[in-house]
Amino acid sequence: MLWPVLLMAAALMAPSAVLAAPAAGAPTAEEEQLFKAWMQQFGRRYSPGEYPRRLRIFVDNKRLIDEHNAGNHSYQMGLNQFSDMTNEEFQKMYLWREPQNCSATKGSFVRSSGPRPDSIDWRKKGNFVTPVKNQGPCGSCWTFSTTGCLESAIAIATGKLLSLAEQQLVDCAQAFNNHGCSGGLPSQAFEYILYNKGLMGEDSYPYQAKNGTCKFRPEKAIAFVKDVINITQYDEDGMVEAVGKHNPVSFAFEVTSNFMHYRKGVYSNPRCEHTPDKVNHAVLAVGYGEENGTPYWIVKNSWGRLWGMEGYFLIERGKNMCGLAACASYPVPQV
Ligand SMILES: *[C@@H]1O[C@H](CO)[C@@H](O)[C@H](O)[C@H]1NC(C)=O
Ligand SMILES: *[C@@H]1O[C@H](CO)[C@@H](O)[C@H](O)[C@H]1NC(C)=O
Ligand SMILES: *[C@@H]1O[C@H](CO)[C@@H](O)[C@H](O)[C@H]1NC(C)=O
Ligand SMILES: *[C@@H]1O[C@H](CO)[C@@H](O)[C@H](O)[C@H]1NC(C)=O
Repeated sequence: MLWPVLLMAAALMAPSAVLAAPAAGAPTAEEEQLFKAWMQQFGRRYSPGEYPRRLRIFVDNKRLIDEHNAGNHSYQMGLNQFSDMTNEEFQKMYLWREPQNCSATKGSFVRSSGPRPDSIDWRKKGNFVTPVKNQGPCGSCWTFSTTGCLESAIAIATGKLLSLAEQQLVDCAQAFNNHGCSGGLPSQAFEYILYNKGLMGEDSYPYQAKNGTCKFRPEKAIAFVKDVINITQYDEDGMVEAVGKHNPVSFAFEVTSNFMHYRKGVYSNPRCEHTPDKVNHAVLAVGYGEENGTPYWIVKNSWGRLWGMEGYFLIERGKNMCGLAACASYPVPQV
């Protein structure tokens, strides 16, 4: 009667031994198969010299994802278009490299009394949010946060949903402390649109994902800003009021290495920074809600529809998670 117990013990140990073995080891045949399928899905090709390196990075990422998903977390990770990149490569290509001075210590947002919804999702209230866009390899997230916010604000005010030109902001908004593919801030981009007197549409000023010269033509401007509202630094409750009672709100936060693999669920990170000098990515809050007692934001990203939850993510609300309440703003459209 001893050996069945031993067998059981062996059976219990085997899976963990099998799981642990490849963690440091070379890619397995199965992993390489998965890599090839992934390459096909994302249209990747490598030179024979590059292939082993990308396979190695992919396998490291895949193992990290599996390990995370086996744990008890409020969000899951998954493969996406970034799965063959190291975190350093990702940071360099998609995020800001230097602080963007987003310090509205005293904002212009005026809080009001009266009820606000427990939850809201502007995607479901009407035709108020354009499809998720893709910034490509250019640190222009701030332009997408800006256009997304103005697009929604105009749609809520007029019922007309326009698609606006990120490239105009990349090419033309430098005088307002913005730096094209090297970063910028929605609040400063709204100021640019206000003083520049207009923003053109996506079709008349198409996106290029690289720095260019300014080709703004005033007669083609279709969107205008009357006022810029900054929400006071760290007033996350003010953000809730703005989104619940007015329209989506642009904000920035600190993207750390685990975020590039986000797939679904409520993102939360006990180890990110919370101050305005550390935020490195701008996005758009299009709603908020609560799940199993955890309040969250619904956020539109600019990494295409294949990333996250069809281009969106949820992030924990009420804790200034990763500095998300450090620099939030929205425009009042001129309509
Ligand atoms: C998972 O994490 C949650 C929140 O941290 C905790 O309440 C729960 O007990 C954990 N479950 C397990 C199985 O560890
Ligand atoms: C931040 O502000 C300082 C002082 O105004 C300026 O020199 C610096 O270029 C700004 N940084 C960015 C990234 O805009
Ligand atoms: C909003 O904040 C930005 C800095 O992020 C600043 O340049 C701008 O002047 C502020 N606007 C208002 C109306 O307070
Ligand atoms: C893009 O242009 C800005 C100036 O408008 C410059 O500061 C920045 O370094 C450029 N970035 C890239 C990636 O060329």
